[in-house]
Amino acid sequence: MSALDAARALFAELTGREPEGVWSAPGRVNLIGEHTDYNEGFVLPFAIPHRTFAAARVRDDDRIRVASTFADERVEVALTDLDALFPTAPGAEPAVPEWSAYVLGVAWALLAAAGDAPARGVDIAIASDVPVGAGLSSSAAIEGAVASALNDLWRLGLDPVALAQVGRRAENEAVGAPTGIMDQMASMLGRPDAATFIDCRSLATESVPTGFTGEGLEVLVIDTQVTHSHSTGGYRERREACERGAALLGIRSLRDASEADLPRAAELMDDVTLRRVRHVITENQRVLDTVRTLAEHGPRMIGDLLVASHASMRDDFEISVAELDLAVETALAQGAIGARMTGGGFGGAAIALVAHDDVEKVSDAVARAFADAGFAAPHVFTVHPSDGPRRDI
Ligand code: GLA
Repeated sequence: MSALDAARALFAELTGREPEGVWSAPGRVNLIGEHTDYNEGFVLPFAIPHRTFAAARVRDDDRIRVASTFADERVEVALTDLDALFPTAPGAEPAVPEWSAYVLGVAWALLAAAGDAPARGVDIAIASDVPVGAGLSSSAAIEGAVASALNDLWRLGLDPVALAQVGRRAENEAVGAPTGIMDQMASMLGRPDAATFIDCRSLATESVPTGFTGEGLEVLVIDTQVTHSHSTGGYRERREACERGAALLGIRSLRDASEADLPRAAELMDDVTLRRVRHVITENQRVLDTVRTLAEHGPRMIGDLLVASHASMRDDFEISVAELDLAVETALAQGAIGARMTGGGFGGAAIALVAHDDVEKVSDAVARAFADAGFAAPHVFTVHPSDGPRRDI
């Protein structure tokens, strides 16, 4: 059954009725620009064909009831109680099951963003074909689908950037993951055959044609099956190191530093902080270089930038794992134009840019290399830059 049909079926099971509509939003792959978003820097992600669907209908009362194919339980609260549930205290577990905090958190943040717009209760059923924990932003997809549904059903008229900010607020303050804005922006602004260049300080965006299809290229996703979570641990630590580095440099964020600042940084900070800072500074530059290279020379010339990005994450930012390194090395050895881990790191997926005719060869080689290394079998598939949110029914 498709995820769209699964959302409709679950809605019928929840309510005994058809939904008023079904809305969906995509996951994303980040082409380049990792851990730069919360440093007010640059990113270049694109939306993927995998989507999360929210089947919904308004109710006659003020209650919000949610169900998901990922969980057996149903969660129901009054809209007026959302303010008592959120924000979740930093580091604490949400007061509702985590999967439902994405949905309820969006409703809460949306009501806050819309001022005192009168809102009616709503039933929502969620289903998705975005792999969870793979670094493909299944969470931004759920936030985008729910935000789009409620924006329409409550007639709020918020634009895609405002909805992305609502999604991020839900993620940060309801779920408690200290992430940046990239994933929600990537999901909300997806366009076929284009990546979205985002200035994460101004939130100005530019659609950047990738030219993959015209050049006969495919983006291979190698999901290592090593699942990650950004609510805790390494992600938060990296963020704190960046903030420390910016403070030591006397700047608002690492966005305001360039390679010329690195000698001074070396005098001001310990080696670990310096390497975290160096990753962000060089990664921002690589994003700008990738945008320019795509426009001037096409996608076959961005390989070195992808490879340098991976090396920087492996050596300076230290967020790669053995499975990701093996995926990247194997893809490159089999002729990939470029490859890098994508997303927050500590597991998740790598991407490889490969010629259409090499997809099978690279996929087989990665599967073999994982088996030889004693790693779990990776999930390997192709993606292409795809549409943002839409109303499906
Ligand atoms: C996760 C976060 C994003 C971003 C990336 C790393 O996907 O949700 O905000 O920080 O990690 O680039």
